[in-house]
Amino acid sequence: MGIPKYSCCWRQAFLACLLITFTAAAQQRRPPQPHPSNPQLDSPEIERRVNALLSRMTLEEKLGQLVQYSSTGTTSATKAAAAAADLAANPEAQYHVDAMQLASEGRLGSMLNVSGGERIASYQHAAVEKSRLHIPLLFGADVIHGYRTIYPIPLGLAASFDPPLIEQLSRMAAQEATTADIHWFYSPMVDISRDARWGRTAEGAGEDAYLGAAMARAYVRGYQGATLSAPDSVAACVKHFAAYGAAEAGREYNTTDMSESRLRQVYLPPYKAAIDAGAATVMSAFNALNGVPATANPYLLDTILRKEWGFDGLVVSDYTAIMELLHHGVALDAATATEKAINAGVDIDMMSHLYDTQLPALIRSGRVPMSVVDESVRRVLRLKFALGLFDHPYSDVPEITSAVAAHRPAVLRAAEESFVLLENKPVNQHPVLPLDPKAKIALIGPLADAANEMQGAWGGAHRGTDVIPLRRALEERAASSGTTLLYAKGTDINSNSDAGFADAEKAARDADVVIMALGESSSMSGEAGSRAHLTLPGNQQALLQQIVATGKPVVLIVFSGRALVLTWAHEHVDGILEAWFPGTEAGHALTAVLYGDVSPSGRLPMSFPWTEGQEPLYYNQFPTGRPAGAADLNAPPGPTTRFVSRYIDAPNAALYPFGYGLSYTTFDYADVKLSRGTIPMRDVHAGAKSLVTVTATVRNTGTEASSTVVQCYVGNRGDTLEQPVKSLKGFERITLAPGESKAVTFPLGFDELAFFDNTGRQRVEPSEYTVWVGGDSNATSSARFTVER
Ligand code: BGC
Repeated sequence: MGIPKYSCCWRQAFLACLLITFTAAAQQRRPPQPHPSNPQLDSPEIERRVNALLSRMTLEEKLGQLVQYSSTGTTSATKAAAAAADLAANPEAQYHVDAMQLASEGRLGSMLNVSGGERIASYQHAAVEKSRLHIPLLFGADVIHGYRTIYPIPLGLAASFDPPLIEQLSRMAAQEATTADIHWFYSPMVDISRDARWGRTAEGAGEDAYLGAAMARAYVRGYQGATLSAPDSVAACVKHFAAYGAAEAGREYNTTDMSESRLRQVYLPPYKAAIDAGAATVMSAFNALNGVPATANPYLLDTILRKEWGFDGLVVSDYTAIMELLHHGVALDAATATEKAINAGVDIDMMSHLYDTQLPALIRSGRVPMSVVDESVRRVLRLKFALGLFDHPYSDVPEITSAVAAHRPAVLRAAEESFVLLENKPVNQHPVLPLDPKAKIALIGPLADAANEMQGAWGGAHRGTDVIPLRRALEERAASSGTTLLYAKGTDINSNSDAGFADAEKAARDADVVIMALGESSSMSGEAGSRAHLTLPGNQQALLQQIVATGKPVVLIVFSGRALVLTWAHEHVDGILEAWFPGTEAGHALTAVLYGDVSPSGRLPMSFPWTEGQEPLYYNQFPTGRPAGAADLNAPPGPTTRFVSRYIDAPNAALYPFGYGLSYTTFDYADVKLSRGTIPMRDVHAGAKSLVTVTATVRNTGTEASSTVVQCYVGNRGDTLEQPVKSLKGFERITLAPGESKAVTFPLGFDELAFFDNTGRQRVEPSEYTVWVGGDSNATSSARFTVER
């Protein structure tokens, strides 16, 4: 029976249609582009030396390269192994390691957080002089925001929106730490955090993928310098791969679960940027992603990291994370945990004490191929060769023993740029800041004279004695200008005692203006620093209220490793300056900004909520089917304003949004123009670097010179998947004199216009785009263009 003619035509039309659709779709999707991520790790000379060495190594020596211990790590390793043993009743687990002995026997590849050049050198001596093959150790350390000269915590640095400065600071940290033979930083931490309850928010660049990517690149470039083999270069370790910042409810180490599109669009870009910048190493995360712990996750560690991104460096587990696979419940014994981790792509076992104890039997039984182990060993050796450790295992320069004077100016500038002025209300018709140089000041609060706290949660080899606390800097200033500084601590950071309140109130009453230094202790953020309450700890809020009740002008300086709830202060306090943890030059930087030597120019890298109940909170929200307009939100929930996407008892938006910050002047952002109004898809397919260029004019409309951060946001409608209402796609830090204006340009290319679909592909589709340019994520000056078929 013949096929009816119309059917044949229909089939042909259908097939043609399919072909066209398929071709068009394929063109819209950018295929992954694997390439070697760091050519310095792949030189033929290094490969030759690695292979020669590998061929001489025993299994024990190979496994030695894959384990990492700390000098004081016996306890932790013991705890980890004991826990594994409890769970698995594993009689083979060895509970004690002696790192010195292992090093001299060639059974140790790297060490973490060994403090002091002399101690490091003693371990290195054991490895290089005593072990059979003289393979040097690699020393890693948590140098997160400075080694000895401490700069602001990464969240504060992100507020500077100043990648070249971050690169400079990272270079300085590398120069300092390499004097003690540290050649590997467990940094940058590039986890996106949209939930201020999570303490590790302090360690990253905040809530935005674009800003996070810019910061990630800058850290890597600074650490690794022009070449890894330079004596003052360190290998970067991008962490924690991946999506750790999405820990549910902001609770540390908690699980994460998300769509592929969100993973790619929000969480992965900073890791990818770091890898593209040549980061030599990656640390796998503690969390599970969609049910698979990151430490045993071949999709993350192999499919994405190695196959898609072409990463050719090494992966180290997080601290005891391989053992923790038992706690996750994806391994019932130590052997399975080990098998899963190494087969997924974790090269180095940090502190679990499992690769050395479990791998021999796993290799014998064929559960772990020898080729997998050899490749991991190769990666470790490649890095050691690339760093030049075989040729120069010891530093030629003396170890630094104090904060480096030459590094202080950049650290000072970084602190100044990191401060975000949140409020500056008029008092007697003048904004409360900058301070009148003749004013008598009362300095009150537990963070006013807290040198150690200024250094934040991680601090390399930091010492409080290097730090200039606020009190000292203000005293110096008062002495030079012939004024008086009154000081009262008022209360401790986390205390119930109001014994100091009366003295504090007296100081306030005797002064012209009060500066209150309140906030968190540095240990309230960072690892294991999750908080369910984001208010000022202890009775600091009560102290603040008592001082404000005196009627004196009050400037609140907030020290914190996260966004806090500052709702009461927003309503009642004249000035608020978010200072994060500013580092070694804290006092000088704060004084310079308080007195107006420098106008504040930091902008928020994360949204500050009205209340904790809004968390996770981020500016680049997705639309809903029932959007709440401004009119709805300003009205109490009623019959016509209730059934929209809103809280009935709190605003939707942030108290202080992403990108927000005041200066001692005002800026106008206008004339947003586009190089064209429509972009044909064929131009998208052609892969042009810039598809449309945005320009805007920024003018300093006030009376003070100041820097600001010009921000470009893009949103689009009409794609297959709904897209965030807007996302940051460009920023530039500029400085303008009063009355001066400047044209700022943002080229938008494929990456800026694209989204990731749920198969992980990046696409641009015909749709309508809006571009906003302004001084924060509420920017209103806009222009539109379309991408057309
Ligand atoms: C942290 C890592 C850190 C490692 C080594 C872990 O507990 O999660 O960020 O690099 O310890 O100290």
